Amino acid sequence: MLEPLEHEKILAAIELRNRKKLVNLAIFETIDSTNSFLLNSAKSGAASGSVCLAEQQTQGRGRRGRPWKSPLGANIYCSLLWRFSRISADKTGLSLAIAVMVLNALKKYGIENKIQLKWPNDILLNGRKLAGILLESSDPSNVIIGIGLNVMSTPEDENAACLAEVMNIIPMRNVVTGLLLNELLVQLDEFELNGLRSFVNEWRRHDMLFGKEVTVFFHDKTLKGVMRGIDEKGNLLLQTAKGEMQKFCYGEVSVRLN
Ligand code: BTN
Repeated sequence: MLEPLEHEKILAAIELRNRKKLVNLAIFETIDSTNSFLLNSAKSGAASGSVCLAEQQTQGRGRRGRPWKSPLGANIYCSLLWRFSRISADKTGLSLAIAVMVLNALKKYGIENKIQLKWPNDILLNGRKLAGILLESSDPSNVIIGIGLNVMSTPEDENAACLAEVMNIIPMRNVVTGLLLNELLVQLDEFELNGLRSFVNEWRRHDMLFGKEVTVFFHDKTLKGVMRGIDEKGNLLLQTAKGEMQKFCYGEVSVRLN
């Protein structure tokens, strides 16, 4: 088991000027899902900047209705409630922007050059999944950003990577969590101002699928082609065998390397 999650240590890793944006930091020993907790809090009027962390989740959720394994004290399970200042704010590309925020926090922790992104928002280390992001909303004015980050591996996770495998020291969960929150608290404002524009180049620099042959799964169909990266809005671009460029939106499809 890693060091326990502690308010003071997490706050210490957040820059002073950003701490005021963090209005509530709830840490649970066990919870069903940190995202579910904040979805309920949002419905009862919780403020933007509310955070929920847990040592373990009994019903951790991943994208596409998958469960997210959440063993006790081994990883980071973190959710942040964010309320947009304008309900009409363009949220296109938010999930990709958040992936860049997680990437930047990991870089600040010293994990350089080894992180890649897989569309739309998986974070990979040495080709295996290090972190996943689940965005949910209780209404169009808010988003709950759920991040699951593997810190110590568990034996049954063959396709998962963890921070511990590339570090000489035991990773400090409190510091990593603080760095993650710091990045989100700064960059969500930037996203509201400029959208994906400020993040798209960094996303492209770490695009693991670029130029690779992939299969895209959508509705009941599949389509093979070569990944040509993302457009300015974060849509996936796939070049088919006929040479046509097809565009896919977030939420619509999943992608697999051939
Ligand atoms: C994915 O499928 O890649 C997304 C995984 C997101 C998991 C995190 S853990 C914290 C938060 N609470 C949840 O129930 N899910 C997210």
